[in-house]
Amino acid sequence: RSLMHTFVLSSRNTHTAPAHKLLKLQNHRRSYTTRTTKPDGKKTLVLLGTGWGSTTMLKTLDTSNFNVIVVSPRNYFLFTPLLPSCTVGTTENRSIMEPIRHIVGRNNKDVRFYEAQCTDIDPKAKQLTLQTPSDTVAHISYDYLVVGVGGTYNTFGTPGVQEHALFLKEMQDASKIRRRLKDTIERAGFEDTTLEERKRLLHMVVVGGGPTGVEFAGELHDLITEDLSKWVPGLAKHVRITLVEALPHVLPSFDPKLVKYTEHTLRKNGIQLMTGTTVKRVGRTTLVVRDTKDGRESEIPYGNIVWAAGIQAREFAHTLRAKVPHVQTNARGLIIDDHLRVKGTGDIWALGDCTVSKNAPLAQVASQQGKWLARAFNAMAKERQAGDAYNSIAAKAPFVYASKGSLAYIGGERAIAEIPAFSTSITAGGPLASLFWKSYCLWELFSVRSSLSVATDWAKRAVFGRHISVD
Ligand code: NAI
Repeated sequence: RSLMHTFVLSSRNTHTAPAHKLLKLQNHRRSYTTRTTKPDGKKTLVLLGTGWGSTTMLKTLDTSNFNVIVVSPRNYFLFTPLLPSCTVGTTENRSIMEPIRHIVGRNNKDVRFYEAQCTDIDPKAKQLTLQTPSDTVAHISYDYLVVGVGGTYNTFGTPGVQEHALFLKEMQDASKIRRRLKDTIERAGFEDTTLEERKRLLHMVVVGGGPTGVEFAGELHDLITEDLSKWVPGLAKHVRITLVEALPHVLPSFDPKLVKYTEHTLRKNGIQLMTGTTVKRVGRTTLVVRDTKDGRESEIPYGNIVWAAGIQAREFAHTLRAKVPHVQTNARGLIIDDHLRVKGTGDIWALGDCTVSKNAPLAQVASQQGKWLARAFNAMAKERQAGDAYNSIAAKAPFVYASKGSLAYIGGERAIAEIPAFSTSITAGGPLASLFWKSYCLWELFSVRSSLSVATDWAKRAVFGRHISVD
């Protein structure tokens, strides 16, 4: 198996199979075999995902030591801190999307990329089942597997959320929000729309006072005050934003001073804060909320609802958990040890939001894990211990997360920043923190091209306002 891996396509769509790889016909399936381990005996390392963890690992990994295969349904890396700004056109979508092949090509990596979703795993046979965008099914083998499939939104089973709410996790989500905002605003402008209906349509509800919800509410506020008030003043005056949070305050992971500053700024910007309030169910035009103190329920009409109430591991993490149910007992995701190995498995490591560890599901954590694991693989290759990857990596000093601080944009050219300094941390909120946040984004973007695109988007917005048309 270490010399070859098979590529099996189901009979449904066999015409998409690479003909030169066809070796034999087996019952109703065509079996394709490709050489994944070069004659010099290199092992096959499969990376699942193109998020913060996997992409950082790919950048740091010396790919000449392994046959590296990257599998992801997304052929680009997404710079998630700027995703909320794409929902209103502050930043254009492509500016924060970095094609994975650019990353590979720029760094001269010898890597294969398969655009597919990994749907199943056979840990004993070390084989993965992939579903391609054209709905064909393929199988590949691995020697070492790194799972960085990330997280997705969590509805917590709240009735009506899946059907009626919008989410903010992927670029498609941001585009959908942008389109829906445009449609709702245009609909509200029709002459036959009653005032009551207009107010309902223009009531934007954000559920979840974590960083995603707060940043989105801030961006929405900017769109209304900077652009809609100029182009459609008659409608802009009816727009209302409500942020619903179950806990007594927003941003529970931030310093209390910054929480206070954020809540003050949001209120000053006209955003209605409903803290201590839980969304119980969502209908087509109204949602039901419950006061967590007195248990009273009320119904609120809305035009658009964005659900930013938390995340959960993706389906594949649960598929893998199910293979070792006696060890993988945490429903939140894959339990990993200090050396990022998925407990209960052999030669499988995991990083980022699909895992459960003492670290929060942060981009920074995933990125540092990716770097740590890449260095561990690089060192292992140097030590020529590739035959026993688990022991080689387990012998290294464990992964320790070093926080570089937290930043969040809160609207109106203001941000909050919490930077660790020695045994304490420096906190700041306001326009200067916003400049710091912007500089951080430009610095952290994966390429000069992306940084230039984002800087240009910001400059265009400052001079001409946002591009409010949507295709
Ligand atoms: P989150 O889990 O941080 O926040 C979700 C919020 O929704 C919670 O405060 C929760 O109490 C509330 N909630 C849950 N169910 C609710 C309901 N039914 N009704 C009302 N409120 C409800 O989720 P978020 O913001 O998506 O962030 C996910 C992770 O990513 C976090 O670890 C976060 O720190 C991180 N992140 C950090 C960013 C930054 O530092 N700038 C930006 C975006 C995400």
